[in-house]
Amino acid sequence: MIVTGRIVRRLPAPYPPHSLRRSPIAHSPNPVHFHHTAMLGRALILKTSAFSPVERMVRKSFLFRGVVRRFIAGESLEEAINVCEGLTAKGFLVTLDYLGENTKSEQEALAARSTYMKMLGCIAASPCGKNANISIKLTQCGLDQGDDVAERNYRQVLTEAETFGSFVRVDMEASAYVQRTLEIIERVWPDHKNTGTVLQSYLYRTPDDVELMIRLQMRTRLVKGAYLEPESVAHKAKAKVDEAYVECGKRLLKDGFYPAIATHDQRIVEILKAYATQEKVDKAKFEFQMLYGIRRDLQESLRSEGYNVRVYVPFGESWYPYFTRRLAERPANIWFILKSFVRG
Ligand code: FDA
Repeated sequence: MIVTGRIVRRLPAPYPPHSLRRSPIAHSPNPVHFHHTAMLGRALILKTSAFSPVERMVRKSFLFRGVVRRFIAGESLEEAINVCEGLTAKGFLVTLDYLGENTKSEQEALAARSTYMKMLGCIAASPCGKNANISIKLTQCGLDQGDDVAERNYRQVLTEAETFGSFVRVDMEASAYVQRTLEIIERVWPDHKNTGTVLQSYLYRTPDDVELMIRLQMRTRLVKGAYLEPESVAHKAKAKVDEAYVECGKRLLKDGFYPAIATHDQRIVEILKAYATQEKVDKAKFEFQMLYGIRRDLQESLRSEGYNVRVYVPFGESWYPYFTRRLAERPANIWFILKSFVRG
């Protein structure tokens, strides 16, 4: 007990203020060198974390608990709804994400569908009401078992959401799923308008997909992209990913339908805020989105400036892949953990 208490006290606070984090780019003597190091660090974290002994250690060791709780609202739906209520009370919008991907059987996909439906009911019954929606994954609806399986489950979730006047966002997964995901969403769109999706600026194809979303007038969340992708499909250089983000963001702000600018990159946030002001895009016509536990200072300042800000709140027992992607995005997070190991 004593040992546990001593080590836990030395773990970082669940939400270190952003001012305590150093921007690695700003402090790097050579940004190009830093970029390659960061990419290597990211790949290394994603590859190492895929080994099951590493996963077992992260899941079991209390040393990771603090940093896990920084990104994950809890394992149960009740814990997640509590977090959503707290955020709603502070004036944020929320989207609830049930963690998990790549179901191994149709039964698993049905179980995920039931959870999605339960989430919709719990949200509707909570004080969050219309301020909350859900984000789902088609590989959790059974995409690996077949497009028809995923589409059937997705349609049922949308029908359920309609009864509550709720909206369902389809997260975008690794590049191998992008075309199939977009085809399914396009097929469903004529029957269900309470849905939208996500586009990733690192993919070369995304500017064309942005035009498709504009033609359909479908709500689109723009992100940089979180998966390890080959150079044949995705920009590798951060500058290119950022440049593509800004261009796609401008297109969506100008001609898209209620787009979501989902990034913690303050420079990009400022560029797109200035663009929206210049083009007289009303603050009510788009929203910013950020992940639970990341850049809360920026979330709060945007909210106080009168922007709609939605927080993406993940929960569930299958938090491991999501958690490792968050670590990989910012390898500095690993140092917190390593330091506590060394001190412990
Ligand atoms: P970038 O990685 O350049 O980070 C900019 C700054 O943000 C950093 O300098 C740091 O200050 C801060 N920051 C970013 N990540 C951090 C972290 N983990 N810990 C601490 N600080 C951090 N991806 C995807 O492929 N499919 C999807 O469906 C979604 N959905 C989604 C929803 C929402 C609401 C968000 C915000 C993001 C996603 N993503 C996603 C993830 C996205 O693709 C991307 O990996 C992350 O948002 C990180 O990229 P940034 O845009 O924040 O920029």
